[in-house]
Amino acid sequence: MKAIDIGHSGLLASEISVGCMRIAGMSKQEVDKLLNTALDVGIDFFDHADVYGGGKSEEVFAGAISRSSSTREKIFLQSKCGIRSGMFDFSRHHILSAVDGSLSRLQTDYLDVLLLHRPDTLMEPEEVAGAFSQLKQSGKVRHFGVSNMNPGQIELLRRFVDQKIIANQLQLSLTNTAMIDSGINVNMQIDRSIDRDGGILEYCRLHRITIQPWSPFQYGFFEGVYLDNDKYPVLNRTIDELAEEKGVTNAAIAIAWLLRHPAKMQPIVGTTNAGRLRDIAHASHVEMTRKEWYALYLAAGNKLP
Ligand SMILES: NC(=O)c1ccc[n+]([C@@H]2O[C@H](COP(=O)([O-])OP(=O)(O)OC[C@H]3O[C@@H](n4cnc5c(N)ncnc54)[C@H](OP(=O)(O)O)[C@@H]3O)[C@@H](O)[C@H]2O)c1
Repeated sequence: MKAIDIGHSGLLASEISVGCMRIAGMSKQEVDKLLNTALDVGIDFFDHADVYGGGKSEEVFAGAISRSSSTREKIFLQSKCGIRSGMFDFSRHHILSAVDGSLSRLQTDYLDVLLLHRPDTLMEPEEVAGAFSQLKQSGKVRHFGVSNMNPGQIELLRRFVDQKIIANQLQLSLTNTAMIDSGINVNMQIDRSIDRDGGILEYCRLHRITIQPWSPFQYGFFEGVYLDNDKYPVLNRTIDELAEEKGVTNAAIAIAWLLRHPAKMQPIVGTTNAGRLRDIAHASHVEMTRKEWYALYLAAGNKLP
């Protein structure tokens, strides 16, 4: 498993991360197997959020770590805050109490990374800055980032926050490529040229913010998995051909496609299946040519101008 320097911060972690959004209902044995497989294939970075499973995901994960042969120092824990019932909340008070909640459920003294989960339009950046500084000084959080934010929102934060923003978690997969499409179709009078995200891909590259693609196997907004799905016959044919050629699974090709992008992204995979995870990890060593990358992009239904 190759390592990635997240946000050029010196935090060197596996370039594939395991997302823990779906682990709350798993048995002890299943979570242990998933965690041990992750560690075995070299994945040491785990993505959480205070809201996953209503907090249960963090608890279940902490249990698995305590039963594993690994120790806290050998893994990286990222969690997110700011989503509350019926609102988003980036107030200082909420950020601080959310982190305390995550630390307690994860049974740890510190988070390696804290992300603001979804933009709060009532955000007062001074409040975020106050919370981040307090968390940094107390040692409760080592690095900071955002999720689902556009360049303007990150700029607003950067104007006030002392700490570097090292990551932006965004939805990106072979079937959700808006941030790529608009850059390929600049200045054209077609839907694909509409820039909905303010040039977020280029912005993150410019500022060395690591993009963490979430839901890399889902189409739509959690509508289902596009792999082996009749809705995407051409895409699956192209993926399967490449998978066979390179001796990996279709899921590994989907992740290799993200890793091939020179933005140096860190995909967050949400499988709860240890066997699938083991296979996906092979993506780290897949060599993908420019021609293959574009063939997959086109097979997903995209067109080049
Ligand atoms: N920042 C945000 O706003 C945000 C939003 C959503 C998610 N996330 C993060 O991103 C992570 C991944 O999200 P996700 O779970 O929606 O993404 P995903 O990795 O695209 O989807 C995983 C789901 O697809 C299923 N699946 C079926 N066939 C599969 C195959 N061949 N290969 C892989 N998975 C297959 C998995 O089932 P099995 O478990 O049976 O394999 C699992 O239910 C989350 O855990 C979370 O950490 C962040």
